[in-house]
Amino acid sequence: MLKVNDLSMVYETPGGEKVSALSDISFSLDKGEFLTVLGPSGCGKTTLLNIIAGFLQPTQGEAVFDDELVSGPSPQRGMVFQQGALFEWMSVEKNVSFGPRMADKPKPDAEIRDNTQHWLDTVGLSDFGKKPVYELSGGMQQRVALARCLANDPGLILMDEPLGALDALTREKMQGLLLKLWKETGKTVILITHSVEEALILGERLFVMAPRPGRIEKEYRLPFAEQGVADDSRKIKAQPDFVQVREEIISMIWAMEEEIMGHQGEKQ
Ligand SMILES: Nc1ncnc2c1ncn2[C@@H]1O[C@H](COP(=O)(O)OP(=O)(O)O)[C@@H](O)[C@H]1O
Ligand SMILES: [Mg+2]
Repeated sequence: MLKVNDLSMVYETPGGEKVSALSDISFSLDKGEFLTVLGPSGCGKTTLLNIIAGFLQPTQGEAVFDDELVSGPSPQRGMVFQQGALFEWMSVEKNVSFGPRMADKPKPDAEIRDNTQHWLDTVGLSDFGKKPVYELSGGMQQRVALARCLANDPGLILMDEPLGALDALTREKMQGLLLKLWKETGKTVILITHSVEEALILGERLFVMAPRPGRIEKEYRLPFAEQGVADDSRKIKAQPDFVQVREEIISMIWAMEEEIMGHQGEKQ
């Protein structure tokens, strides 16, 4: 469903310095898969997601989604950002119905209203449609962002650290909601996170990326997301197999970060 072929990205800074953000990334995702991506800061996670979203053109290679070359943004590939991407002065409803209202061939008003209400119900915001977004808590705002993305019925959902700004408890609740939505809708999801536990709980597949140049260092296939649909995430996090892979990944990322610090030391 999604194919990423030999993707490379070299940025040129205003000073003329070349930064190799991604090098020869290739992978494919099947319909309905949930992929999480972890890696130290600067390893190219956001760049990769932005290329798949169509916000950025790669310097080499391509992303192909549903047999179409990605050459720009499309409602078929929805993005959920960490925060601040909503229209804060508009009502929750207006935010959620924004995409459908702006579509090339908008559906009838009544249908858009029903669709909006459906997604608000699904994310637990049935009674908040009329509220302006700025009145909601951070966790509720991320529910709005999710509903807004889903209202466009995208085939692929891209999320760049969507829960990064939330407190721990809200974050856990949102992880549960993401798993539930994923199971119910059968959507394909790519989620970037800084949290190893989050990546393990949510991802059926997990990439650990390494920097300089950004690349996929290791891939995992994991049972925890599937378990998490039915089971309590606390229980899963205490399982020996969960703890073992968590420790393995933490060590890997620590080693990478130490290497980055070493490089920075050399430069100074
Ligand atoms: N517009 C840009 N111009 C130059 N360098 C950039 C630009 N955007 C990102 N980079 C560099 O590319 C690398 C990857 O960045 P990014 O994709 O944001 O990483 P991550 O999301 O993993 O933190 C970093 O070294 C970053 O400094
Ligand atoms: Mg980033």
